[in-house]
Amino acid sequence: MQLSTLLVHAGRDSDSRKGMVNTPVYRTSTVVFDSMADYRATRGSKFDNVRYGRLGTYTTKELEHLIASLENAYRAVLTPSGVSAITTTLNALALPGSHILVPDNVYFPCREYCEKVLRARGVEVEFYTGSNIASLTRPNTAVVYCESPGSLTMEMQDIKALADAAHEAGAKVVADNTWATPIFFSPFEHGIDVSIHAATKYLGGHSDVMMGTIATVDPDLWLQIRSEAAVQGLAISPDDAYLMARGIRTLGVRMERHYKNGVAMAQWLMAQPKVETVLYPALESSPDHALWQRQMSGASGLMTMALKPCSQEQCDRFIDALSLFSIGASWGGYESLVLPADTAGKRSIASDPYRGPLVRLHIGLENIEDLQADLRQAFEVLD
Ligand SMILES: Cc1ncc(COP(=O)(O)O)c(C=O)c1O
Repeated sequence: MQLSTLLVHAGRDSDSRKGMVNTPVYRTSTVVFDSMADYRATRGSKFDNVRYGRLGTYTTKELEHLIASLENAYRAVLTPSGVSAITTTLNALALPGSHILVPDNVYFPCREYCEKVLRARGVEVEFYTGSNIASLTRPNTAVVYCESPGSLTMEMQDIKALADAAHEAGAKVVADNTWATPIFFSPFEHGIDVSIHAATKYLGGHSDVMMGTIATVDPDLWLQIRSEAAVQGLAISPDDAYLMARGIRTLGVRMERHYKNGVAMAQWLMAQPKVETVLYPALESSPDHALWQRQMSGASGLMTMALKPCSQEQCDRFIDALSLFSIGASWGGYESLVLPADTAGKRSIASDPYRGPLVRLHIGLENIEDLQADLRQAFEVLD
């Protein structure tokens, strides 16, 4: 079945829908049973049956099915945020005494967790750049973590090359695929073992719900990660699950528009006199364009522009002058957002080579000419 059909039909089990179009919000802590025989029957497979609120209700279980279908995975795990999807996966796979490889340009809270928590737990955390990791793997390498494109500076990774080297060393490949979404990237076709999304971003798509998803094709990995989420007591509110499923139904059409707007905006920005360059792999001029083209079927609306050299005060005035781009520390919603993209203190190997300030833009679903007009008038404060 094609993805656009799955987006509409997956995760809508007719029994739990009870005739409604959408799976209702099953709000409960307690599930009651008619007999001890019925209760005992649910104990064997606690992650399959609905038997206690923390372990999930029909609303969350249908969302798990929807995520697994979109990712073409065996099963999925839901967590209360994108960060908890990352930490739960790493907790399950990076045991004390193991070694993990993490990209230098990884989403900063992931770096912080690795540096502050995993290292203290006895995990050897090593940061890397690029995709050539064969010489970095060790006999105890448990995880090769990927994020492509990387946070803020948007470098692409060659996932197949990374996965081949990781598997050669007996390591699992975990990837944060939030930027591409399941619409533009099929993680398991490229050798990824565990696919993570900050569903807070595009999957939810309306800037009103926090959630993380973890999907895998490997039943053993799924059980390890699901059990980790359970022992940590991670639970998803059925209201959030309902909102998430509702957002996902329109993911395909939203992503088409983010892609169209994103490419048009990146090309337009490249021609603006105040812009040094735009970091966005879907641009033909990007050094990573070929890699992007080979691995992904589209691009989202998140990009970073390097301004021509100017002070941070001028850059702040430029941002303040925008009206359709709100200042906000997120992306993936229907609306356009802007934020300075400061890499200082967030990398241990490579510092960014740009002379002017970096500004991250999320290109929303608005009319592209309106967004360009907003940027055009804001660029004037840099004169
Ligand atoms: C690439 C990436 N991964 C994960 C996250 C974390 O998601 P959340 O804010 O839902 O914890 C973010 C948030 O900005 C992100 O940009």
